[in-house]
Amino acid sequence: MTYTDRLTNVSVLGSAGKMGSGILLLAALEVADQMLKPENKDRHFVINAIDVSSAALPGLMKYIRAQVLKAAEKKVVLLRGLYAHRAELIENSEIIDAYVDDVMGLIRPSTRLEVAYESTLVFEAVSENEALKVKLFSQINENNALQPWFFTNTSSVPIAGLDKGANLSGRVLGFHFYNPPAVQKLVEVITIAANPSEMKEFALQLAKNMRKVVVPSNDIAGFIGNGHFMRDALFALGEAKILSASMPMHEALYIVNKVSQDYLMRPMGIFQLIDYVGVDVVRFIMSVMNPHMPAEDLHSDELDRMFEKGIKGGQFSDGSQKDGILKYEKGKPVAVFNSDTGEYIPISSFAATADAWLGPLPESTMPWKNLVKAPDKDSLAALAFEAYRTSGTNGAQLALSYARRSREIGLNLVNTGVAHSAADVNTVLLTGFFHAYGPVNEFVL
Ligand SMILES: NC(=O)c1ccc[n+]([C@@H]2O[C@H](COP(=O)([O-])OP(=O)(O)OC[C@H]3O[C@@H](n4cnc5c(N)ncnc54)[C@H](O)[C@@H]3O)[C@@H](O)[C@H]2O)c1
Repeated sequence: MTYTDRLTNVSVLGSAGKMGSGILLLAALEVADQMLKPENKDRHFVINAIDVSSAALPGLMKYIRAQVLKAAEKKVVLLRGLYAHRAELIENSEIIDAYVDDVMGLIRPSTRLEVAYESTLVFEAVSENEALKVKLFSQINENNALQPWFFTNTSSVPIAGLDKGANLSGRVLGFHFYNPPAVQKLVEVITIAANPSEMKEFALQLAKNMRKVVVPSNDIAGFIGNGHFMRDALFALGEAKILSASMPMHEALYIVNKVSQDYLMRPMGIFQLIDYVGVDVVRFIMSVMNPHMPAEDLHSDELDRMFEKGIKGGQFSDGSQKDGILKYEKGKPVAVFNSDTGEYIPISSFAATADAWLGPLPESTMPWKNLVKAPDKDSLAALAFEAYRTSGTNGAQLALSYARRSREIGLNLVNTGVAHSAADVNTVLLTGFFHAYGPVNEFVL
């Protein structure tokens, strides 16, 4: 079966979800690219957009149409070439409309899993629930004579377990997009020994055609991205707990969040990132990973306490942050939750004390948004860490131990065989988490 054959009938499970909608868009654009090749003009292509939520499907189709229109506007010169045989299309707007109609014509929204019984490729982005994923894969596999390939977006569930559970004989791999899939450049591809080599080659070709940066990851729960993020988050929570012996917990959380953002020069603080992903999602991913890591305890009592008090975080549909460990106004943290009192404490009420505890930020430390645009990011970051080493402030000491732990986590991902190389770990943090420098470096030592 050729690359194009594989794409003639594609299904996206969970297509109305945060990830599924982006995956559907990327899949539709790639299938359209194949469909519009002159040699494929007599072939029939279809993409089934499957989701249990019938209420969400009309909104999904509206979203996809708007995104395809944007994509068309950006590549109108290319489309003019592809539609050259349609002499009646003269204006740019006519060509754009024809393309949008063609792409939308590919997509069949459905709430029924049965439509995937004729698919050759199934993307899966339903909720992070191993039993659900296994059930859907098994049902499709048992009723589909075409030996379909399953590309799962799971964040943490080992692929080999899905393969065994659904009896797929190696026809599943992890194709892990970052949120939002249409924007984020990174895809972690998690293969297992039983994958046919053509399937791995197809995955790489597909990612390339979608203009993604591919990082291979071995099949160890959490893979590279969450393998680093979850441990980084647990380190931060652990540091906050230690500090809370001598100050209120909300102050400790503020301090660690500030160090992880301002001192480490990251795009957002660690507790803001946990909120962004969701306190509930982070807890859940840890619980999926934990049984696979008997030598570690990937679990946080503090996150449990917050969750029990209804603290969930997450995002509104426009991507803005919901209140979580931190409370937000216009996207900026303004208060910190204290799980002892169950209240948000305004940052303005304790920032002066906490900032005095941290000490002044060295002059060589740059805001992330400046560092990330600089041509020589590593040397500039190195200057900041040099200043931390000579500075005796609490902030500098905490920044150094935080960065060293992040480095150690990165190296452990290589040593335990999750990542093939330190460079791959760095690529995931640079591309998937927008860090300005990779965690595995020499300058934090
Ligand atoms: N959100 C992220 O940042 C992110 C990043 C990377 C990977 N992931 C992974 O992607 C997957 C989806 O996550 P999400 O955040 O998009 O979740 P989501 O809750 O936004 O979407 C899940 C979708 O699946 C649908 N669904 C549930 N059961 C179904 C079924 N039986 N059949 C068909 N559709 C069903 C839901 O209606 C929903 O639309 C998860 O495995 C998650 O771990 C999420």
